[in-house]
Amino acid sequence: MPASLKTHFLNEEYANPFMNASGVHCMTVQELEELSASKAGAFITKSATTSERQGNPKPRYCSVPLGSINSMGLPNEGFDYYLNYVIKHQEEHPGEAIPFFSVAGMSLKENLNLLERIQESDFKGVTELNLSCPNVPGKPQVAYDFEMTEQILNSVFKFFKKPLGVKLPPYFDFAHFDTMAKILNQYPLAYVNCINSIGNGLYIDVNEESVVVKPKNGFGGIGGEYIKPTALANVRAFYTRLNPDIKIIGTGGIRTGQDAFEHLLCGAAMLQVGTELYKEGVSIFARLEKELKEIMNQKGYSSIDEFRGKLKSL
Ligand code: FUM
Repeated sequence: MPASLKTHFLNEEYANPFMNASGVHCMTVQELEELSASKAGAFITKSATTSERQGNPKPRYCSVPLGSINSMGLPNEGFDYYLNYVIKHQEEHPGEAIPFFSVAGMSLKENLNLLERIQESDFKGVTELNLSCPNVPGKPQVAYDFEMTEQILNSVFKFFKKPLGVKLPPYFDFAHFDTMAKILNQYPLAYVNCINSIGNGLYIDVNEESVVVKPKNGFGGIGGEYIKPTALANVRAFYTRLNPDIKIIGTGGIRTGQDAFEHLLCGAAMLQVGTELYKEGVSIFARLEKELKEIMNQKGYSSIDEFRGKLKSL
């Protein structure tokens, strides 16, 4: 039987597991509509704060040969802009996948307020709470603070009853995988998204003897090929530690169908594409779909569930 990419995620069926990563091609309604019309199985909005933000000074994103470096600083059109869009989209496209909605408050209070407003709204889709933006000067990545993460989730799940996932930064030590998994396992999370960019890397233009992004003296989040092994490790680490009701979204270094296959083998349920979507545009989803199907056909898999999570150990 020819390979099918049909994906079941949180009681919804998607044509394939591919989505954009929040932050790429999802700032404006026009970009979101382009995602909606693309071959992506689902899509997500740019992480919203209460009010519109200009973000960091430019240049703040640079494509480099093996990936990207960014220090965007959460530029976005503000919470209402994206909430209105996702609600309108769900009303105008009944029967179609509802966009995921990403939020990133700057404080516990702001996160709780944004989630309360989602809870009270007509939005029926999935919310992603971004606990891992590395680029706001003076604001450390929340999910590196285990106590704060627990405090946020404790407060959120007192009132939030809609499906909620969290976007995590990469972790690099088994002790941290274990600690974070123990925290996450206490809550009715729909999913965790592994990983955001690897924070605070430095890319140097040797000819210019200079950094390539302006904010934070050139320090920025690294994405693309550089980060695939770290992304795969985080997907695998959480897939093998979390309660099976908590799904994993794999993000990081997906450029080809083979990269997608590797993320699925590690246990990812859906796949987000950032750096390569920025480079290639929304046509990337048709290519990824074709390449993943080719690999599955070669290997004789007719569905993703036949190999998802089945990475062999030696
Ligand atoms: O700087 C940014 O807007 C990036 C956000 C993120 O990586 O979550």
